[in-house]
Amino acid sequence: MLLMGKPSFFLLLLLLHCFMVSLVWSDTNINTDKYALLALKSFITSDPYDILANWSISSPPCNWIGVTCNPRHRRIHSLNLGSMDLKGTMCPQLGNLSFLVELDLSDNNFYGQIPEELVRLHRLKLFNLSYNNFDGQVPAWIGYLTSLQKLNLYNNNLNGVIPPSLFNLSMLEILDWGANFIEGVIPLVVGRLQQLKILRLVGNNLSGFIPQAICNLTSIELLSLSYNSLSGGIPNKIGDLSQLKILSLGANQLTSSIPSSLFNNSVLQEIFLGENQLSGSLPNSLLA
Ligand SMILES: *[C@@H]1O[C@H](CO)[C@@H](O)[C@H](O)[C@H]1NC(C)=O
Ligand SMILES: *[C@@H]1O[C@H](CO)[C@@H](O)[C@H](O)[C@H]1NC(C)=O
Ligand SMILES: *[C@@H]1O[C@H](CO)[C@@H](O)[C@H](O)[C@H]1NC(C)=O
Ligand SMILES: *[C@@H]1O[C@H](CO)[C@@H](O)[C@H](O)[C@H]1NC(C)=O
Ligand SMILES: *[C@@H]1O[C@H](CO)[C@@H](O)[C@H](O)[C@H]1NC(C)=O
Ligand SMILES: *[C@@H]1O[C@H](CO)[C@@H](O)[C@H](O)[C@H]1NC(C)=O
Ligand SMILES: *[C@@H]1O[C@H](CO)[C@@H](O)[C@H](O)[C@H]1NC(C)=O
Repeated sequence: MLLMGKPSFFLLLLLLHCFMVSLVWSDTNINTDKYALLALKSFITSDPYDILANWSISSPPCNWIGVTCNPRHRRIHSLNLGSMDLKGTMCPQLGNLSFLVELDLSDNNFYGQIPEELVRLHRLKLFNLSYNNFDGQVPAWIGYLTSLQKLNLYNNNLNGVIPPSLFNLSMLEILDWGANFIEGVIPLVVGRLQQLKILRLVGNNLSGFIPQAICNLTSIELLSLSYNSLSGGIPNKIGDLSQLKILSLGANQLTSSIPSSLFNNSVLQEIFLGENQLSGSLPNSLLA
């Protein structure tokens, strides 16, 4: 009895130990989330509507405004602070929100660089920083956020070139980097994004040719590359993209003739090819 009791006593101790470790573990984790958000709050220098008033150390972060938790793990799932007139920089601690799936800070006055620590948000599906004043180079580490489906950096002050690693994001459906200062060429690997529905690079400083590989984007519905410095011809098979509804390539330095494949496309609703040196005419159905 005594001999058999000892191992089960140790087993009980071991189980108890595991239980306590797991308690401490999960407690640390939600606190990690809380401290990451409190750090963000401390980097916000202007909050005219007092939106973040109830982000306080004494209340659980899952009830804070703009925050949603995953009901199963009780960890922060989404942070949505869009259009709240906030001003500040983005803190590296946000990279500690390891269960984050949606991050929307759009339409505020955030500025400075996008911290590289965010590369740790490997569950992130929605990343929306549009309509802010972020500067510095477009982050090359973004190619490691392999769950990303919607990536919107529209209307910031980002410069540098499009990192080829971006085209490793095979789940990507929306890629909107318009209205920035991005230069260089559109990489040939662009054709790898088979899920892409929206590609919007309007209003940058891109140069070089539009790669033929763009005709490989079989899910594409909106393609907007207007207001750049692209040259060369329009890829011949562009009209074969069977989902393409909006095609905007105007205000570049494109030459050669308008591809006849566009006449075959019956889903196309809107087209802008003007302010180029193209020859030929558009399908009658698309003329305004
Ligand atoms: C914070 O404010 C929101 C919106 O007013 C409210 O729903 C939430 O309960 C508040 N949370 C706390 C901890 O006071
Ligand atoms: C959170 O992030 C910061 C900065 O990236 C780091 O220094 C800190 O150790 C991280 N961990 C926790 C538990 O806050
Ligand atoms: C991102 O934010 C902008 C501005 O708030 C909004 O128009 C857009 O629909 C948002 N979502 C995505 C996926 O771009
Ligand atoms: C992208 O994929 C290529 C192989 O296709 C690999 O060599 C490269 O390391 C990947 N880059 C990133 C940022 O994941
Ligand atoms: C075109 O798409 C296929 C998948 O359908 C892919 O294997 C191929 O690498 C892509 N080609 C280019 C040039 O992107
Ligand atoms: C665009 O890039 C060219 C060089 O490729 C440069 O001369 C020009 O100033 C740039 N324009 C803008 C608006 O950044
Ligand atoms: C238009 O479609 C017809 C029939 O599908 C095909 O024979 C023709 O080659 C296509 N023309 C172009 C320019 O793609």
